[in-house]
Amino acid sequence: MSTPDLDEFSTTTAVLQQMSATPDPRLKEIADAAVRHLHAFVREVRLTPAEWLTGIGFLTQVGQACSAIRQEFILLSDVLGVSAVVNALHQENARERGTQSSLLGPFYREGAPELSCGECLVRHPAAPLIVVYGRVTGQEGEPVRNALIQVWQTDENGLYDLQVGDPAVMDMRANFRTDDQGRYHFTTVRPLGYSIPLDGPVGRLVRNQRRHGFRPAHIHFLIGGDGYQELVTALYFGDDAHIDSDTVFGVSGSLVVRAVDDPHAPMPGLKAVHYDFRLARSADETMGRVGADPSKVGGVVR
Ligand code: BEZ
Ligand code: FE
Repeated sequence: MSTPDLDEFSTTTAVLQQMSATPDPRLKEIADAAVRHLHAFVREVRLTPAEWLTGIGFLTQVGQACSAIRQEFILLSDVLGVSAVVNALHQENARERGTQSSLLGPFYREGAPELSCGECLVRHPAAPLIVVYGRVTGQEGEPVRNALIQVWQTDENGLYDLQVGDPAVMDMRANFRTDDQGRYHFTTVRPLGYSIPLDGPVGRLVRNQRRHGFRPAHIHFLIGGDGYQELVTALYFGDDAHIDSDTVFGVSGSLVVRAVDDPHAPMPGLKAVHYDFRLARSADETMGRVGADPSKVGGVVR
């Protein structure tokens, strides 16, 4: 039998054929679909050799921009909405519905200082304090006692601790524990919305697409309780100009809050954000997070 000439369609079949003995069924499913979709994409846009090389160069620069404190590939996934889609599927797969999740983002750090209820997570507040309070419960409203609430945010100028001052000092981030009734509260300054890092290859892409690059003001939460599925989420300030155009598609309506006068808040006199979080029970040990501390991603980091 003579060897057939490969064209833009039969090449796809040939690649799938070569990969057909992959013993790991999930690897086979993912690699097969990736090849089919990648080939279809190349055919659809009729990718030229020059464009192919530009794409290779772009991905090379994305890799080169990664370090122990920066994950440019996650940023790329974020601005293309891939992280948000993975997050949505992840939540859909949970056995129960808890609070809507949101992106972890690249500024999460493990090992923030543990503070007591009511303490301020900003070392040198330069704006009026607000109080954030509520409860962490399970599906039936049962309190989740001693839940670990990890919180991180920007300051009143829209900067994370790593972007101001000594990166070794943790600021605008802290860990809290819920009390016997699942209650938490802490004080902070109202964070400002900010631009995602635009000084790398992903930023160049975003600017070339004439996108503003901003995220609306938000406070991140990572909440874990014994027997419950970890919740990665964030609360977004509804009066931010970019609330409906988040560059990384993290905002959901149920996560939008306002800082208001609230006579029921634990610290009357301060503007308050009230939010009750609901955790789903652990369903599946492989659930995982959509995101990671950048220093923990991959093998070798600079
Ligand atoms: C963040 O919210 O910290 C974030 C998320 C995705 C990209 C950049 C920043
Ligand atoms: Fe953030």
